[in-house]
Amino acid sequence: MSASPTFSPAKINLFLAITGRRADGFHDLVSVVAPLEFGDTLWVEPKPEAGHPKPEGRFTLECDDPALPTDASNLVLRAARAFAGASGWRGGAHFRLEKRIPPGAGLGGGSSNAVAVLRALNQIAGGPFDAAQLAGLAAGLGSDCPLFLHAGPVVLRGRGEQVAPLPAAAARLRGRRVLLFKPGIGVSTPWAYARMAAGAPRHYLPAAGAEARLAAWLDGGARAESLLFNNMEEVVFAKFLALPVLLDALRGEFDLAARMSGSGSACFALLQEATPVPAVIARIREFWGPAAFVTETKIS
Ligand code: C5P
Repeated sequence: MSASPTFSPAKINLFLAITGRRADGFHDLVSVVAPLEFGDTLWVEPKPEAGHPKPEGRFTLECDDPALPTDASNLVLRAARAFAGASGWRGGAHFRLEKRIPPGAGLGGGSSNAVAVLRALNQIAGGPFDAAQLAGLAAGLGSDCPLFLHAGPVVLRGRGEQVAPLPAAAARLRGRRVLLFKPGIGVSTPWAYARMAAGAPRHYLPAAGAEARLAAWLDGGARAESLLFNNMEEVVFAKFLALPVLLDALRGEFDLAARMSGSGSACFALLQEATPVPAVIARIREFWGPAAFVTETKIS
């Protein structure tokens, strides 16, 4: 059987309020997340008669980025095994991942890949799972996974597994041009959450405040720029000083609305019609060096 491509988008958190720590060690949050037109491509070649009794032997992965582990730790293989285990599907697949989303970025790359696998295998296997069952499987793979089962911007609650669409506000967000940029260094998500917990409750925005802020934006019809918020920035910026220094420069010089995405280290700026993009990119490279990742994309 021939391989078919599945697009696996990156995401940005336009609004991210960590509201407090839960008894299970995770954090509750309220977040507006938007998928981007930028992302990875996952090629899935089905092997219906893979023959191996255990899911471990039926799925293989190759990736064009040699820095990425292609062993059992990769979310692509973890998702495939979770799917096979839960569905009882006896087939297998070879995955080829064209990696464009940088890891350690807060762009949801691994989570998006996992959901691309779940979608593709569910189709190949004849649709054993409905949307709610896929969402349950996705939540088990990571807090950021369920959002990728939806098209367009969504609101996340809980630890990220409660996903609600944003129909009216989506019109204000969709199609917005975004510049994404990331320094050579990445941020570990568990580390960033641990820093939030260590400073508790100083860094949290209580849920009532977060909901009020979001509701005001939704009801007020304000532009996407005034939605931007991320209360993880403080703990990340305290260690990675190059992030706030650049964001302040971009705000001051180009009047850009710019924030960190998720737990970082990727940041984004909402571009305006008149934004001199080459000059902005030049400034990013001046502050973060020529190896910094930069790409222009759109909210999808
Ligand atoms: O769910 P995921 O595997 O992406 O989470 C990675 C880590 O990030 C968790 O082990 C936890 O330390 C932290 N986390 C959290 N609260 C969330 C999401 C993640 O504390 N809502």
